Amino acid sequence: MEFFVARSRLTLIFSLFFFLSLCFRSSSSLSSSPTDLKILTAERRIDLASHIIRVVLTLKVQNDGASPASDVLLAFPPAQAKHLALIHAAEVAGKKRKKTLHPLDVKTSSNAEGPNGAKLYSISLRNPLSTGGSVSLEVSYVLTQSLEPFPVEISQSEPQLVLYRDSALILSPYEIKQQTTVIRTPSTKVESFTRVEPSTHLRTELKYGPYEDQPAFSYTPIVVHFENNNPFAVVEELVREIEISHWGNLQVTEHYTLVHNGARHKGGFSRVEYQSRPTYSGVASFKSLLVKLPPRVHSVYYRDNIGNISTSHLRTGYSKSEMEIEPRYPLLGGWKATFVIGYGLPLEDVLFESADGKRYLNFSFGCPIAETLVNKITNKVVLPEGSKNPSVAVPFSVEQRAETSYSYLDIVGRPVVVLEKENVVPEHNSLFQVYYDFHPMFMLAEPLMLISVFFFLFVAALAYIHMDISIRK
Ligand SMILES: *[C@@H]1O[C@H](CO)[C@@H](O)[C@H](O)[C@H]1NC(C)=O
Ligand SMILES: *[C@@H]1O[C@H](CO)[C@@H](O)[C@H](O)[C@H]1NC(C)=O
Repeated sequence: MEFFVARSRLTLIFSLFFFLSLCFRSSSSLSSSPTDLKILTAERRIDLASHIIRVVLTLKVQNDGASPASDVLLAFPPAQAKHLALIHAAEVAGKKRKKTLHPLDVKTSSNAEGPNGAKLYSISLRNPLSTGGSVSLEVSYVLTQSLEPFPVEISQSEPQLVLYRDSALILSPYEIKQQTTVIRTPSTKVESFTRVEPSTHLRTELKYGPYEDQPAFSYTPIVVHFENNNPFAVVEELVREIEISHWGNLQVTEHYTLVHNGARHKGGFSRVEYQSRPTYSGVASFKSLLVKLPPRVHSVYYRDNIGNISTSHLRTGYSKSEMEIEPRYPLLGGWKATFVIGYGLPLEDVLFESADGKRYLNFSFGCPIAETLVNKITNKVVLPEGSKNPSVAVPFSVEQRAETSYSYLDIVGRPVVVLEKENVVPEHNSLFQVYYDFHPMFMLAEPLMLISVFFFLFVAALAYIHMDISIRK
Protein backbone atom coordinates (compact mmCIF):
# COMPACT_ATOMS: atom_id res chain seq x y z
CA MET A 1 0.00 0.00 0.00
CA GLU A 2 2.72 2.40 1.09
CA PHE A 3 4.73 1.41 -1.90
CA PHE A 4 1.78 2.17 -4.15
CA VAL A 5 1.30 5.65 -2.69
CA ALA A 6 4.98 6.38 -3.03
CA ARG A 7 4.90 5.31 -6.64
CA SER A 8 1.93 7.44 -7.59
CA ARG A 9 3.55 10.45 -5.91
CA LEU A 10 6.65 9.82 -7.95
CA THR A 11 4.56 9.68 -11.12
CA LEU A 12 2.96 12.99 -10.18
CA ILE A 13 6.33 14.63 -9.69
CA PHE A 14 7.55 13.25 -12.96
CA SER A 15 4.55 14.42 -14.92
CA LEU A 16 4.81 17.89 -13.36
CA PHE A 17 8.43 18.01 -14.35
CA PHE A 18 7.55 16.83 -17.86
CA PHE A 19 4.83 19.47 -18.16
CA LEU A 20 7.18 22.23 -17.02
CA SER A 21 9.86 21.15 -19.46
CA LEU A 22 7.27 21.18 -22.26
CA CYS A 23 6.21 24.74 -21.39
CA PHE A 24 9.79 25.81 -21.27
CA ARG A 25 10.59 24.19 -24.60
CA SER A 26 7.74 25.72 -26.50
CA SER A 27 8.36 29.21 -25.12
CA SER A 28 12.05 29.03 -25.95
CA SER A 29 11.36 27.93 -29.53
CA LEU A 30 8.73 30.60 -29.99
CA SER A 31 11.18 33.35 -29.13
CA SER A 32 13.61 32.04 -31.73
CA SER A 33 10.98 31.75 -34.47
CA PRO A 34 11.59 34.22 -37.30
CA THR A 35 8.79 36.76 -37.42
CA ASP A 36 10.30 39.01 -40.04
CA LEU A 37 8.58 37.12 -42.83
CA LYS A 38 4.90 37.41 -43.55
CA ILE A 39 2.67 35.41 -45.91
CA LEU A 40 0.55 37.70 -48.06
CA THR A 41 -1.59 34.99 -49.69
CA ALA A 42 -1.76 31.26 -49.14
CA GLU A 43 -3.82 28.71 -51.04
CA ARG A 44 -3.93 25.05 -50.11
CA ARG A 45 -5.49 22.29 -52.23
CA ILE A 46 -5.97 18.92 -50.54
CA ASP A 47 -6.83 16.00 -52.80
CA LEU A 48 -8.57 13.15 -50.95
CA ALA A 49 -9.47 11.19 -54.10
CA SER A 50 -7.33 8.17 -53.28
CA HIS A 51 -5.90 6.79 -50.02
CA ILE A 52 -2.67 8.65 -50.75
CA ILE A 53 -3.27 12.32 -49.97
CA ARG A 54 -1.70 14.98 -52.15
CA VAL A 55 -1.50 18.61 -51.08
CA VAL A 56 -0.38 21.65 -53.06
CA LEU A 57 0.35 24.82 -51.12
CA THR A 58 0.93 28.11 -52.95
CA LEU A 59 2.46 30.88 -50.86
CA LYS A 60 3.41 34.46 -51.47
CA VAL A 61 6.01 35.40 -48.89
CA GLN A 62 7.20 38.90 -48.10
CA ASN A 63 10.21 39.99 -46.07
CA ASP A 64 9.35 42.77 -43.62
CA GLY A 65 12.59 42.42 -41.67
CA ALA A 66 15.73 44.53 -41.83
CA SER A 67 18.02 41.77 -43.12
CA PRO A 68 17.69 39.46 -46.16
CA ALA A 69 16.08 36.04 -45.53
CA SER A 70 17.53 32.89 -47.09
CA ASP A 71 15.07 30.29 -45.75
CA VAL A 72 11.32 29.98 -45.47
CA LEU A 73 9.93 27.65 -42.81
CA LEU A 74 6.94 25.30 -43.11
CA ALA A 75 5.14 23.81 -40.13
CA PHE A 76 3.33 20.48 -39.86
CA PRO A 77 1.23 19.16 -36.99
CA PRO A 78 3.03 16.13 -35.44
CA ALA A 79 0.40 13.66 -36.72
CA GLN A 80 0.99 14.82 -40.30
CA ALA A 81 4.77 15.03 -40.00
CA LYS A 82 4.77 11.34 -39.04
CA HIS A 83 2.95 10.41 -42.27
CA LEU A 84 4.74 12.77 -44.60
CA ALA A 85 6.09 10.60 -47.43
CA LEU A 86 7.49 13.29 -49.64
CA ILE A 87 7.85 17.07 -49.85
CA HIS A 88 8.90 19.22 -52.79
CA ALA A 89 9.15 22.99 -53.07
CA ALA A 90 9.71 25.27 -56.03
CA GLU A 91 10.01 28.95 -56.68
CA VAL A 92 7.40 30.19 -59.13
CA ALA A 93 8.59 32.64 -61.74
CA GLY A 94 6.33 34.35 -64.27
CA LYS A 95 2.56 34.55 -64.30
CA LYS A 96 -0.08 31.87 -64.95
CA ARG A 97 0.52 30.92 -68.59
CA LYS A 98 4.26 31.43 -68.64
CA LYS A 99 4.78 29.99 -65.17
CA THR A 100 8.12 28.27 -64.60
CA LEU A 101 9.11 26.30 -61.52
CA HIS A 102 12.62 26.25 -60.07
CA PRO A 103 13.02 23.35 -57.62
CA LEU A 104 14.31 24.27 -54.16
CA ASP A 105 15.90 22.25 -51.36
CA VAL A 106 13.67 21.25 -48.45
CA LYS A 107 15.04 19.76 -45.26
CA THR A 108 13.95 19.29 -41.68
CA SER A 109 14.74 22.49 -39.88
CA SER A 110 17.54 22.67 -37.33
CA ASN A 111 15.23 24.90 -35.27
CA ALA A 112 13.49 23.33 -32.30
CA GLU A 113 9.88 22.29 -32.69
CA GLY A 114 7.09 24.86 -32.85
CA PRO A 115 4.35 24.99 -30.21
CA ASN A 116 2.35 21.78 -29.62
CA GLY A 117 5.10 19.70 -31.16
CA ALA A 118 4.75 21.20 -34.66
CA LYS A 119 7.56 19.97 -36.92
CA LEU A 120 9.42 22.55 -38.95
CA TYR A 121 10.84 22.16 -42.45
CA SER A 122 13.08 24.69 -44.08
CA ILE A 123 13.06 25.73 -47.77
CA SER A 124 16.30 27.27 -49.04
CA LEU A 125 15.58 30.09 -51.47
CA ARG A 126 17.52 30.49 -54.72
CA ASN A 127 18.45 34.08 -53.84
CA PRO A 128 18.10 35.66 -50.39
CA LEU A 129 14.88 37.65 -50.11
CA SER A 130 15.77 41.31 -49.60
CA THR A 131 13.89 43.67 -47.30
CA GLY A 132 10.46 44.48 -48.71
CA GLY A 133 10.83 41.86 -51.47
CA SER A 134 8.42 38.97 -52.05
CA VAL A 135 8.62 35.51 -53.58
CA SER A 136 6.03 32.98 -54.76
CA LEU A 137 6.50 29.39 -53.67
CA GLU A 138 4.75 26.18 -54.58
CA VAL A 139 5.03 23.36 -52.08
CA SER A 140 3.64 19.90 -52.77
CA TYR A 141 3.59 17.06 -50.30
CA VAL A 142 2.16 13.58 -49.93
CA LEU A 143 0.58 12.14 -46.79
CA THR A 144 -0.07 8.44 -46.22
CA GLN A 145 -2.13 6.51 -43.66
CA SER A 146 -4.11 9.66 -42.87
CA LEU A 147 -7.65 8.47 -43.64
CA GLU A 148 -9.26 6.68 -40.76
CA PRO A 149 -12.10 4.25 -41.65
CA PHE A 150 -15.25 5.08 -39.72
CA PRO A 151 -17.08 2.81 -39.12
CA VAL A 152 -14.03 0.65 -38.56
CA GLU A 153 -15.80 -2.50 -39.85
CA ILE A 154 -18.22 -2.78 -42.76
CA SER A 155 -20.16 -5.64 -44.30
CA GLN A 156 -20.04 -6.63 -47.94
CA SER A 157 -22.98 -4.42 -48.90
CA GLU A 158 -21.78 -1.22 -47.24
CA PRO A 159 -19.69 1.59 -48.74
CA GLN A 160 -16.47 2.68 -47.02
CA LEU A 161 -16.57 5.91 -45.03
CA VAL A 162 -13.43 7.60 -43.75
CA LEU A 163 -12.42 10.54 -41.57
CA TYR A 164 -9.84 13.12 -42.53
CA ARG A 165 -8.50 15.45 -39.83
CA ASP A 166 -6.68 18.69 -40.48
CA SER A 167 -6.88 22.37 -39.63
CA ALA A 168 -9.08 24.92 -41.41
CA LEU A 169 -6.22 27.38 -40.99
CA ILE A 170 -2.86 26.61 -42.52
CA LEU A 171 -0.31 25.91 -39.79
CA SER A 172 2.55 28.33 -40.36
CA PRO A 173 5.33 29.96 -38.34
CA TYR A 174 4.34 33.26 -39.99
CA GLU A 175 1.35 35.54 -39.93
CA ILE A 176 -0.91 34.91 -42.95
CA LYS A 177 -2.75 37.92 -44.42
CA GLN A 178 -5.20 35.95 -46.55
CA GLN A 179 -5.73 32.23 -47.01
CA THR A 180 -8.09 29.61 -48.44
CA THR A 181 -8.17 25.83 -48.33
CA VAL A 182 -9.96 23.64 -50.86
CA ILE A 183 -10.55 19.97 -50.07
CA ARG A 184 -11.50 17.70 -52.95
CA THR A 185 -13.40 14.49 -52.14
CA PRO A 186 -13.71 11.47 -54.48
CA SER A 187 -17.50 11.80 -54.74
CA THR A 188 -20.29 14.17 -53.70
CA LYS A 189 -21.05 11.89 -50.75
CA VAL A 190 -19.85 13.91 -47.74
CA GLU A 191 -21.51 12.77 -44.52
CA SER A 192 -20.36 15.75 -42.47
CA PHE A 193 -17.63 18.34 -42.13
CA THR A 194 -16.65 20.84 -39.45
CA ARG A 195 -17.87 24.32 -40.34
CA VAL A 196 -15.51 27.23 -39.79
CA GLU A 197 -17.22 30.23 -41.36
CA PRO A 198 -16.92 31.05 -44.17
CA SER A 199 -16.98 27.43 -45.39
CA THR A 200 -18.93 25.97 -48.30
CA HIS A 201 -19.63 22.58 -49.84
CA LEU A 202 -20.22 22.39 -53.56
CA ARG A 203 -20.30 18.96 -55.24
CA THR A 204 -16.86 17.41 -54.65
CA GLU A 205 -15.28 20.52 -53.17
CA LEU A 206 -15.19 21.84 -49.62
CA LYS A 207 -13.91 25.36 -49.36
CA TYR A 208 -12.57 26.89 -46.15
CA GLY A 209 -11.99 30.64 -46.17
CA PRO A 210 -10.93 33.16 -47.24
CA TYR A 211 -9.65 33.93 -43.74
CA GLU A 212 -7.88 37.20 -43.09
CA ASP A 213 -5.00 38.20 -40.78
CA GLN A 214 -4.30 34.98 -38.90
CA PRO A 215 -1.39 35.09 -36.43
CA ALA A 216 1.49 32.59 -36.57
CA PHE A 217 0.71 28.99 -35.54
CA SER A 218 -3.07 29.44 -35.76
CA TYR A 219 -4.79 26.07 -35.74
CA THR A 220 -8.50 25.22 -35.96
CA PRO A 221 -9.15 21.47 -36.07
CA ILE A 222 -11.64 20.14 -38.63
CA VAL A 223 -12.92 16.67 -39.46
CA VAL A 224 -14.33 15.63 -42.83
CA HIS A 225 -16.39 12.41 -42.95
CA PHE A 226 -16.87 11.15 -46.50
CA GLU A 227 -17.23 8.13 -48.76
CA ASN A 228 -14.04 6.78 -50.32
CA ASN A 229 -14.29 3.44 -52.11
CA ASN A 230 -10.94 3.59 -53.80
CA PRO A 231 -8.71 0.58 -53.24
CA PHE A 232 -6.68 1.12 -50.08
CA ALA A 233 -3.89 -1.01 -51.53
CA VAL A 234 -0.93 -1.18 -49.18
CA VAL A 235 2.12 -3.35 -49.75
CA GLU A 236 3.38 -4.12 -46.28
CA GLU A 237 6.64 -5.35 -47.67
CA LEU A 238 8.12 -5.43 -51.17
CA VAL A 239 11.42 -7.12 -51.89
CA ARG A 240 12.76 -6.58 -55.41
CA GLU A 241 15.72 -8.60 -56.65
CA ILE A 242 17.29 -6.98 -59.69
CA GLU A 243 19.96 -9.23 -61.16
CA ILE A 244 22.35 -8.10 -63.87
CA SER A 245 23.74 -10.75 -66.17
CA HIS A 246 26.33 -9.53 -68.63
CA TRP A 247 25.08 -12.21 -71.01
CA GLY A 248 22.34 -9.76 -72.00
CA ASN A 249 19.54 -9.97 -69.46
CA LEU A 250 18.20 -8.16 -66.43
CA GLN A 251 16.06 -10.43 -64.27
CA VAL A 252 13.61 -8.79 -61.84
CA THR A 253 11.77 -10.75 -59.14
CA GLU A 254 9.34 -8.91 -56.89
CA HIS A 255 7.93 -10.44 -53.68
CA TYR A 256 4.76 -8.78 -52.42
CA THR A 257 2.73 -8.84 -49.22
CA LEU A 258 -0.37 -6.87 -50.15
CA VAL A 259 -3.15 -5.86 -47.76
CA HIS A 260 -6.45 -4.00 -48.12
CA ASN A 261 -5.92 -1.31 -45.52
CA GLY A 262 -9.43 0.18 -45.49
CA ALA A 263 -12.38 -0.58 -43.21
CA ARG A 264 -12.19 -4.21 -42.03
CA HIS A 265 -14.66 -6.65 -43.55
CA LYS A 266 -17.22 -8.12 -41.15
CA GLY A 267 -19.70 -10.93 -41.58
CA GLY A 268 -19.68 -13.54 -44.33
CA PHE A 269 -18.62 -13.18 -47.91
CA SER A 270 -20.94 -14.14 -50.77
CA ARG A 271 -19.16 -14.54 -54.07
CA VAL A 272 -22.47 -14.85 -55.91
CA GLU A 273 -23.64 -11.49 -54.67
CA TYR A 274 -20.19 -10.02 -55.25
CA GLN A 275 -20.24 -11.01 -58.90
CA SER A 276 -23.88 -10.30 -59.66
CA ARG A 277 -24.14 -6.82 -58.07
CA PRO A 278 -20.68 -5.27 -58.47
CA THR A 279 -21.93 -1.68 -57.96
CA TYR A 280 -23.42 -2.40 -54.54
CA SER A 281 -21.49 -5.36 -53.25
CA GLY A 282 -17.95 -4.99 -51.97
CA VAL A 283 -17.57 -1.52 -53.53
CA ALA A 284 -14.48 -0.81 -51.45
CA SER A 285 -12.78 -4.10 -52.39
CA PHE A 286 -10.42 -4.69 -55.25
CA LYS A 287 -10.15 -7.67 -57.49
CA SER A 288 -7.54 -6.56 -59.98
CA LEU A 289 -4.49 -4.32 -59.95
CA LEU A 290 -2.59 -2.57 -62.72
CA VAL A 291 1.15 -3.17 -62.91
CA LYS A 292 3.18 -0.77 -65.06
CA LEU A 293 6.27 -2.42 -66.50
CA PRO A 294 9.02 -1.24 -68.89
CA PRO A 295 8.26 -1.52 -72.64
CA ARG A 296 10.30 -4.55 -73.71
CA VAL A 297 9.59 -7.01 -70.87
CA HIS A 298 9.69 -10.72 -71.58
CA SER A 299 9.13 -13.99 -69.65
CA VAL A 300 6.62 -12.31 -67.35
CA TYR A 301 5.11 -14.48 -64.63
CA TYR A 302 2.79 -13.96 -61.69
CA ARG A 303 2.50 -16.65 -59.07
CA ASP A 304 1.63 -17.27 -55.44
CA ASN A 305 2.44 -20.16 -53.11
CA ILE A 306 -0.04 -22.43 -54.94
CA GLY A 307 1.43 -21.86 -58.38
CA ASN A 308 1.10 -19.69 -61.48
CA ILE A 309 -1.97 -17.47 -61.65
CA SER A 310 -3.15 -17.35 -65.22
CA THR A 311 -5.72 -14.55 -64.79
CA SER A 312 -3.37 -11.78 -65.77
CA HIS A 313 -3.36 -9.83 -68.99
CA LEU A 314 -0.19 -8.36 -70.39
CA ARG A 315 -0.15 -5.61 -73.01
CA THR A 316 3.30 -4.66 -74.22
CA GLY A 317 3.66 -1.35 -76.00
CA TYR A 318 6.20 0.97 -77.50
CA SER A 319 6.63 3.19 -74.43
CA LYS A 320 5.33 0.97 -71.62
CA SER A 321 3.81 -2.41 -70.81
CA GLU A 322 0.82 -2.92 -68.60
CA MET A 323 -0.22 -6.04 -66.78
CA GLU A 324 -3.52 -6.47 -65.02
CA ILE A 325 -3.24 -9.00 -62.22
CA GLU A 326 -6.05 -10.66 -60.32
CA PRO A 327 -5.32 -12.28 -56.97
CA ARG A 328 -7.11 -15.61 -56.43
CA TYR A 329 -9.87 -13.92 -54.42
CA PRO A 330 -11.08 -10.30 -54.25
CA LEU A 331 -9.43 -8.41 -51.40
CA LEU A 332 -11.88 -7.04 -48.84
CA GLY A 333 -10.91 -4.83 -45.91
CA GLY A 334 -8.12 -6.36 -43.84
CA TRP A 335 -7.50 -9.26 -46.27
CA LYS A 336 -4.02 -10.11 -47.43
CA ALA A 337 -2.40 -11.69 -50.48
CA THR A 338 1.20 -12.69 -51.04
CA PHE A 339 2.52 -13.19 -54.56
CA VAL A 340 5.56 -12.89 -56.79
CA ILE A 341 5.90 -11.06 -60.10
CA GLY A 342 8.92 -11.76 -62.27
CA TYR A 343 10.15 -10.51 -65.62
CA GLY A 344 13.19 -10.12 -67.81
CA LEU A 345 14.46 -7.10 -69.71
CA PRO A 346 17.05 -6.69 -72.46
CA LEU A 347 20.20 -5.44 -70.75
CA GLU A 348 20.83 -2.75 -73.36
CA ASP A 349 17.68 -0.92 -72.17
CA VAL A 350 18.96 -0.48 -68.62
CA LEU A 351 22.75 -0.87 -68.52
CA PHE A 352 25.03 1.86 -69.85
CA GLU A 353 28.63 2.96 -69.73
CA SER A 354 29.51 6.30 -68.16
CA ALA A 355 32.11 8.74 -69.50
CA ASP A 356 34.71 7.52 -66.97
CA GLY A 357 34.39 3.90 -68.12
CA LYS A 358 32.18 2.65 -65.30
CA ARG A 359 29.09 0.62 -66.06
CA TYR A 360 25.80 1.66 -64.56
CA LEU A 361 22.29 0.38 -64.16
CA ASN A 362 19.52 2.97 -64.73
CA PHE A 363 16.30 1.54 -63.31
CA SER A 364 13.09 2.51 -61.50
CA PHE A 365 13.07 2.53 -57.70
CA GLY A 366 9.49 2.12 -56.51
CA CYS A 367 6.56 -0.26 -56.75
CA PRO A 368 5.13 -0.75 -60.27
CA ILE A 369 1.55 -1.28 -59.03
CA ALA A 370 -0.54 1.83 -59.64
CA GLU A 371 -1.59 4.03 -56.70
CA THR A 372 -0.10 1.79 -54.04
CA LEU A 373 1.60 2.66 -50.78
CA VAL A 374 4.61 0.54 -49.78
CA ASN A 375 5.37 0.47 -46.06
CA LYS A 376 8.83 -0.92 -46.68
CA ILE A 377 10.68 -1.53 -49.94
CA THR A 378 13.97 -3.38 -50.34
CA ASN A 379 15.72 -3.11 -53.71
CA LYS A 380 18.53 -5.65 -54.04
CA VAL A 381 20.73 -5.04 -57.05
CA VAL A 382 22.82 -8.15 -57.74
CA LEU A 383 25.91 -7.17 -59.74
CA PRO A 384 27.88 -9.61 -61.89
CA GLU A 385 30.65 -11.56 -60.22
CA GLY A 386 33.91 -9.61 -60.27
CA SER A 387 32.26 -6.17 -60.08
CA LYS A 388 34.10 -3.64 -57.95
CA ASN A 389 33.45 -0.33 -56.16
CA PRO A 390 29.67 -0.10 -56.45
CA SER A 391 28.20 3.36 -55.82
CA VAL A 392 24.59 4.53 -55.87
CA ALA A 393 22.73 7.67 -57.01
CA VAL A 394 19.15 7.93 -55.68
CA PRO A 395 17.17 11.20 -55.79
CA PHE A 396 15.96 10.84 -52.15
CA SER A 397 17.32 9.46 -48.90
CA VAL A 398 17.55 5.66 -48.55
CA GLU A 399 19.20 3.18 -46.20
CA GLN A 400 22.05 1.44 -47.96
CA ARG A 401 24.07 -1.69 -47.22
CA ALA A 402 26.13 -4.31 -49.04
CA GLU A 403 25.74 -8.09 -49.22
CA THR A 404 27.23 -10.92 -51.22
CA SER A 405 25.19 -13.57 -52.98
CA TYR A 406 26.29 -16.88 -54.45
CA SER A 407 24.73 -18.78 -57.30
CA TYR A 408 25.89 -21.65 -59.52
CA LEU A 409 29.52 -21.47 -60.56
CA ASP A 410 30.23 -18.37 -58.49
CA ILE A 411 33.63 -18.40 -56.85
CA VAL A 412 34.00 -15.06 -55.09
CA GLY A 413 30.24 -14.30 -55.01
CA ARG A 414 28.29 -11.40 -56.47
CA PRO A 415 28.24 -8.01 -54.78
CA VAL A 416 24.69 -7.00 -53.85
CA VAL A 417 23.70 -3.38 -53.27
CA VAL A 418 20.72 -3.26 -50.89
CA LEU A 419 18.59 -0.11 -50.78
CA GLU A 420 15.79 0.19 -48.25
CA LYS A 421 13.12 2.83 -47.77
CA GLU A 422 9.95 3.15 -45.74
CA ASN A 423 6.70 4.95 -46.64
CA VAL A 424 7.11 4.78 -50.42
CA VAL A 425 4.45 6.34 -52.70
CA PRO A 426 4.07 6.34 -56.52
CA GLU A 427 5.98 9.66 -56.65
CA HIS A 428 9.07 7.68 -55.61
CA ASN A 429 8.98 5.72 -58.87
CA SER A 430 11.94 7.62 -60.22
CA LEU A 431 15.11 6.27 -61.77
CA PHE A 432 18.15 5.45 -59.69
CA GLN A 433 21.64 4.43 -60.78
CA VAL A 434 24.13 1.86 -59.54
CA TYR A 435 27.66 2.43 -60.85
CA TYR A 436 30.38 -0.23 -60.74
CA ASP A 437 33.73 -1.22 -62.23
CA PHE A 438 33.92 -4.41 -64.21
CA HIS A 439 36.79 -6.02 -66.05
CA PRO A 440 35.61 -7.87 -69.18
CA MET A 441 38.05 -10.70 -68.37
CA PHE A 442 35.64 -11.73 -65.61
CA MET A 443 33.09 -12.65 -68.24
CA LEU A 444 35.43 -15.40 -69.34
CA ALA A 445 35.80 -16.83 -65.84
CA GLU A 446 32.67 -18.99 -65.91
CA PRO A 447 33.07 -20.36 -69.46
CA LEU A 448 36.76 -21.04 -68.77
CA MET A 449 35.84 -22.87 -65.62
CA LEU A 450 33.25 -24.94 -67.47
CA ILE A 451 35.73 -25.70 -70.26
CA SER A 452 38.41 -26.79 -67.80
CA VAL A 453 35.93 -28.96 -65.90
CA PHE A 454 34.91 -30.66 -69.14
CA PHE A 455 38.53 -30.97 -70.18
CA PHE A 456 39.44 -32.75 -66.94
CA LEU A 457 36.42 -35.04 -67.27
CA PHE A 458 37.48 -35.82 -70.81
CA VAL A 459 41.07 -36.55 -69.77
CA ALA A 460 39.84 -38.69 -66.89
CA ALA A 461 37.52 -40.63 -69.18
CA LEU A 462 40.32 -41.09 -71.70
CA ALA A 463 42.66 -42.33 -69.01
CA TYR A 464 39.96 -44.66 -67.71
CA ILE A 465 39.37 -46.19 -71.14
CA HIS A 466 43.07 -46.68 -71.79
CA MET A 467 43.83 -47.97 -68.37
CA ASP A 468 44.09 -51.67 -68.04
CA ILE A 469 42.59 -52.52 -64.71
CA SER A 470 41.78 -56.18 -65.33
CA ILE A 471 43.48 -58.78 -63.16
CA ARG A 472 44.50 -61.02 -66.04
CA LYS A 473 48.07 -62.23 -65.94
C1 LIG B 1 4.82 -20.61 -64.44
O1 LIG B 1 5.06 -19.72 -65.53
C2 LIG B 1 6.42 -19.60 -65.89
C3 LIG B 1 6.55 -18.54 -66.96
O2 LIG B 1 5.51 -18.59 -67.86
C4 LIG B 1 6.93 -20.97 -66.36
O3 LIG B 1 8.30 -20.87 -66.69
C5 LIG B 1 6.76 -21.97 -65.23
O4 LIG B 1 7.12 -23.25 -65.68
C6 LIG B 1 5.29 -22.00 -64.77
N1 LIG B 1 5.21 -22.85 -63.58
C7 LIG B 1 4.23 -23.69 -63.38
C8 LIG B 1 4.28 -24.47 -62.12
O5 LIG B 1 3.33 -23.83 -64.19
C1 LIG C 1 18.12 6.99 -67.28
O1 LIG C 1 17.16 6.74 -68.30
C2 LIG C 1 16.31 7.83 -68.59
C3 LIG C 1 15.33 7.42 -69.65
O2 LIG C 1 14.91 6.12 -69.51
C4 LIG C 1 17.12 9.03 -69.06
O3 LIG C 1 16.28 10.13 -69.27
C5 LIG C 1 18.15 9.37 -68.01
O4 LIG C 1 18.99 10.41 -68.48
C6 LIG C 1 19.00 8.16 -67.68
N1 LIG C 1 19.91 8.50 -66.61
C7 LIG C 1 21.21 8.38 -66.73
C8 LIG C 1 22.06 8.80 -65.58
O5 LIG C 1 21.74 7.93 -67.74
